[in-house]
Parts: sequence; structure tokens; C-alpha cells
Amino acid sequence: MAVDDSDNPKNDAQGRIVPAHVAVIMDGNGRWAKSRALPRHAGHRAGVKSVRQIVELAAKRGVSCLTLFAFSSENWRRPAEEVSRLMGLFLEALQREVNDLHRNNVRVEFIGSRDQLQADLLKKILAAEEKTKDNDGLRLMVAVAYGGRWDIVNAAKSLATKALDGKISVDDLDDELFATELALHELPDPDLLIRTGGEQRISNFLLWNLAYAELWFSECLWPDFGEKQFDEALAFFASRQRRYGFTGDQVA
Ligand code: FPP
Repeated sequence: MAVDDSDNPKNDAQGRIVPAHVAVIMDGNGRWAKSRALPRHAGHRAGVKSVRQIVELAAKRGVSCLTLFAFSSENWRRPAEEVSRLMGLFLEALQREVNDLHRNNVRVEFIGSRDQLQADLLKKILAAEEKTKDNDGLRLMVAVAYGGRWDIVNAAKSLATKALDGKISVDDLDDELFATELALHELPDPDLLIRTGGEQRISNFLLWNLAYAELWFSECLWPDFGEKQFDEALAFFASRQRRYGFTGDQVA
């Protein structure tokens, strides 16, 4: 089912344009914990609270789709204990939140490679996706074991297979067809990327889909990210003129 974005772009109460799709790189959990002399996993646990708040806020502000980078394909390189704690946290958060998400009409889905996920987590992911699949409120996409290059290579493999099977011809290939094979295939591209934690890079997130996103970098560490910071990011977005290659005069 394609997202119904017939009422997008939406405007907020002040008439400012609201991004239909917001993507977030939630960085800074480790530093947040370190500054409090706590173990890193305490930072991740605090980060779950910010996730909850941002999901609520996104729905409240009229965002249609929220994509969160929870664990990258490169995060498998972290110490085994941290990886295991993070997986445990995802499982716990999913168990605890799925009914609430469902009650709030949120449709939750996971993107990323499922090959290395533990069976219990995978089972909860499939159950959450199934339970919420008919909800037509906020689309919540959680990227776990996700990498932008992985996504592009996957799409290329799938298209190459279709070409070899004679289902498409090489001449059919254009960016629209390519995008149909990506993890976020049916969703509009993110309009706004938020990255917390002070770094100004994309870190292999949604490499294809972020082509025209407005980028908002915040010094705020993810566990401290809340309503004030989210609204700042939305105000920044509303102030941007999006040109997609046109001149400013053409767009105006
Ligand atoms: C990056 O901070 C954060 C992560 C790799 C994990 C993000 C996970 C959560 C916020 C927890 C739960 C998420 C969901 C969807 C339930 P970092 O560890 O790299 O921080 P640092 O740069 O300060 O070390």
C-alpha cells in the first residue's frame, strides 16, 4: 500500500510547511553516558526514551513517516557486549511499545539485513509488522543492521536478476525503477535528515534516498533530544527553499 500523501505537504498551526518524511541518525548515547560516568548501555537505554518522545511528536506535528537509524551494518563491529545489549534493548522496546504503537495507529516496519538478527528479535519484528500493517497513521521505519551501500547493492542484484530472467530490459532502468528495489521503495524520500551528537556526516544511512533532503545537524546528544530540538529542526526545514536543480526564481 503506497503512503497516502495527498494531503502533503502539510502545514503546521503557524502555516509553516511540515516535512512529510523525517529521517534521524540518533548519535551521542555513548558520550551522554560517559559524561555521567555511566556504562554506554545506560546511554542507549536513555536513548529509547527519546525515541518514544520523537515518535509521539512526529505524529503530533503531522509528519507522515519517520525513519530512525537504530543500528548500522557497521555497528556489528562494536564490542560484543554492547551489540548484545543493544539487541536486547530493541527486543525489550518492541515488546513494551508495540501495543501502544498499534493503539496510536502507527505502522511499524524494519529495514536492514535480517540475516544476522537473533531468532527471538526477528520473531518480534515480524509480529510487530504484521500487527500494525493496516494502520494508516505515522509510518515508523526502524533501520537495524542497515547500510546505504548494502541497500543499493541489494537493489542492483535484484534488478540484475530480473534483467537476466527477461522480466525487465536494461533500457527500462532509470532512477524511478531503481528506487522500487530499495528498502524504502514505496515511501517518499526523506525531506529532512536530523543528526544529533555533533558529527556532520551521513554515515552510510539512506545514501540514495537522502539525495535532496535538508540536513539538520545538532550538537545535542540523542538522550537529550526532545520537543525543543525537534521543533528547531522543523523550523529550520520550514525556512528552506527546496530547488531540486531549478533556480530560486523558478521555484518561487
Ligand atoms: C549511536 O550513539 C547510537 C546507536 C548506535 C544506537 C541507537 C539506539 C537507540 C537510541 C536505542 C533504541 C532504539 C530503538 C529504535 C528502540 P553512539 O553509541 O555512537 O554514541 P557516541 O557517538 O556518543 O559513542
